[in-house]
Amino acid sequence: MNSAIRAITLTSAKLGLQCVGFLHGYNGLINQEYIELTPDCVIDITQRGGTLLKSARCDAMLEDTGVQQAANALRKLHIDALIVIGGDGSFRGIHALSAHWHGQLIGLPGTIDNDLAGCDHTIGFSSAVNTATVAIDKIRDTANAFERVFITEVMGRHSGHIAYNVGIATGAEAILSFENYTKSDTAKLVQQLQRAITEQQHKHGSFLIILAENLWPGGAHALRDALNEQSNINCALCVLGHIQRGGAPSAENRMLATELGVAAVETVYQAIQHDTFRAATFMLGKINGVLTSTPISTVLTRQKPVPDSWVKRYRDFLAEG
Ligand code: F6P
Repeated sequence: MNSAIRAITLTSAKLGLQCVGFLHGYNGLINQEYIELTPDCVIDITQRGGTLLKSARCDAMLEDTGVQQAANALRKLHIDALIVIGGDGSFRGIHALSAHWHGQLIGLPGTIDNDLAGCDHTIGFSSAVNTATVAIDKIRDTANAFERVFITEVMGRHSGHIAYNVGIATGAEAILSFENYTKSDTAKLVQQLQRAITEQQHKHGSFLIILAENLWPGGAHALRDALNEQSNINCALCVLGHIQRGGAPSAENRMLATELGVAAVETVYQAIQHDTFRAATFMLGKINGVLTSTPISTVLTRQKPVPDSWVKRYRDFLAEG
């Protein structure tokens, strides 16, 4: 997110546009808590995780009064355009705001979950996948040395993009995600794992299971207990949690965020020049390498599942479970 903020700030300065950053997500907008973003503020931030502006979930934006307050703040501060970096919840905020405020609204896809339509990758996704991959490579070392079965739970909310990418990148023997398992598959899952683990352990000792959060009721701890109770398999476990959301962002994410940030401000500038302000409320993303704008309403209604080709490849050629 810092790379996007840097790009937005620098591009605005070059084009002579005044730029402010609201703090703590929509809360800062509602409370009119903001800082002026000048080139000096964004020195040395592109390599840092987190965000200069802080972030927060904002329950007030779920209510019409909160949305009205946000719209009033934008009017009071004479804001012409609002660029929101975020995921599904942030974009619902954009959608709600568009009914009450007539400035230009632009979304940039920012979530580790990669679950937004209108882009191949979201800002944050590749950094999270890299972080989880590095962590799981280390788990593999200890799992190999001690010949253990390991369950590692990764984030993703209700989407399996992180689980699949990390599972494939680390050569995990089993990926348990929404695309290949449902919560009711317990017996099948235990059976498959039991067979696979026994076979695999005879080969080289370790067996890594990547578990998508929210797939298994009770998460990795409950899966470990079920495997232990139903098949006497002892698993170690690791819930990676929020470490996936921190650390230096990947170069790929910095480039993506920078490109989208520059494009967002250029779009605002062009709209001002050609008097096409607020032609639409949309998200900018890259699809097959091409900068694309997609209406927010489409982003909110369309799904972006893990590509079938990867699910099939994994199932047919790579999985042990
Ligand atoms: O949407 C990003 C994400 O990290 C999800 O992967 C995860 O389910 C959720 O946020 C965690 O939210 P919180 O930090 O509020 O617990």
